[in-house]
Formats: sequence, C-alpha cells, structure tokens
Amino acid sequence: MKLGVNIDHVATLREARKGVEPEPVAGAVLALLGGADGITAHLREDRRHINDRDLTLLRKVVHTELNLEMAATAEMIRIAKKIKPDMVTLVPEKRQELTTEGGLNLKKNFKQISGAVKKLKTSGLYVSLFINSEEKDITLSADTGADAVEIHTGGYANARGRNQARQYKRVASAVETALKLGLDVNAGHGLNYENVKKIASITTIRGLYIGHSIVSRAVLVGMERAVREMRQLIRDAADDNRNRN
Ligand code: PXP
Repeated sequence: MKLGVNIDHVATLREARKGVEPEPVAGAVLALLGGADGITAHLREDRRHINDRDLTLLRKVVHTELNLEMAATAEMIRIAKKIKPDMVTLVPEKRQELTTEGGLNLKKNFKQISGAVKKLKTSGLYVSLFINSEEKDITLSADTGADAVEIHTGGYANARGRNQARQYKRVASAVETALKLGLDVNAGHGLNYENVKKIASITTIRGLYIGHSIVSRAVLVGMERAVREMRQLIRDAADDNRNRN
C-alpha cells in the first residue's frame, strides 16, 4: 500500500510569514527520503498554502508519484495539463473552509466533473475523484470515466467507539464496491498515528494520502534538535566574543 504525503501545511507555515521558510519542496524531498511513495499538494484557488511556483518545482523533484489535488475548474485543468502530475485528484473546494470538508457532490455537479475528467484524460492524465463512501457516489464516479476514487476517511477519523466501527464498515464496503466497478481505490483525510492501522488493514486500498498528522508530528519530533542547534549558535557567539577579548 502506497503512502502519499500531503505537504500543504509546510507551505501553510511559510505563508504565516509570507517568507521563504519552511520550504515545501525541501519537506517533500525529506518525506521521500523517509519512505513516502509520493507527494500530494493541493493548489487552491486562493493559493493559501501551495502556489504555482511550488508545483513547478515539485514536478522537477518528485520522480515517483506527484498527486495534484484541485477543483474541477478551467484554470486548474489548464495548470494540470501544463504540470503533468502523475495523478490528479479532483476535490470540492469552498473558499471559507479550513480543509476539504466532504467528498465531491457528483449528483449535483456530474456534468462539470465528468467534463473535467474527460479533458484531463484526453491529455493523458490519471484522474481520481475524492468522494464520500456513499454507493451512489461510487457508481457515478465510474460513470465519469475516472481511473480511481479516494474514499473520504474523515467520518471514520472523527468518530469514536461504536460509531467509529460503523464508519469503518462504510469505508470498507465502499472500497469493495469501487473495486468491483474497476476503479483503483485510495483513501485519506484525518488519518493519524492512532487511527491509521485499521484503515491500512484494508489491503485492497492502493494508497493512503496523509498530511496534517505527519506535518504536525514533524514539528514536534524536530523541535528538540531545532532548539539544540539554536542553543549551540548562541553559545558559539558567546565563546567567540570571549576569545576576541
Ligand atoms: N485527501 C484529500 C483529498 C484531501 O483534501 C486531504 C487534505 O488536504 C487529505 C487527503 C489529507 O488529509 P489530512 O491532512 O487530514 O491528512
């Protein structure tokens, strides 16, 4: 099972200062060194984290799987055709949301989404649709001609106890239905170090796409070393000063 690491929130941290660090491309390279099979980046209409320059550089350094998450808009289709990611994942996008809130509404937006799938596939791109675990969304996904679906695991991740067991069953059954229809099946959203194992036990899933929990852990496991390095620089400056006098 593949692990795709979403590096959007490395860019979120950079954008907190509108500066140059942390560099998301460096984050991507380190994620690959750590064993990621691929890198995911979501280019949002408002460019709140990943921007066009990041995507161009990511395409140059990610030689495994670059997964571009994007809305099914004319602007994004144009960018995808230019960048040529290894996978395009179409997601719904609302300006005010903190993160992608739900799967695509295929019933309502079938024409727009199937049109986007057709355009992307005509350009030779592999297309996945981010959907909820509803049977109807899976059959409609197959009808669009998409290659794959990514099942939204947010409901499972946010649920507790018996409700989580119920949500898990919905994901597992959605995976089965999608496979039967000939779709490749990915999963993601809200997966973390506590809840990932159960989803990873569904071995027919092609890949898991995880971002926030990995970037969050990276901040914490890197903190000690980062402070030690700064501490040392300050100590060195004091030593230099003493040696000069
Ligand atoms: N898959 C999709 C389609 C997403 O939109 C996101 C969030 O950007 C993820 C996976 C990763 O979710 P998380 O950051 O909660 O791991």
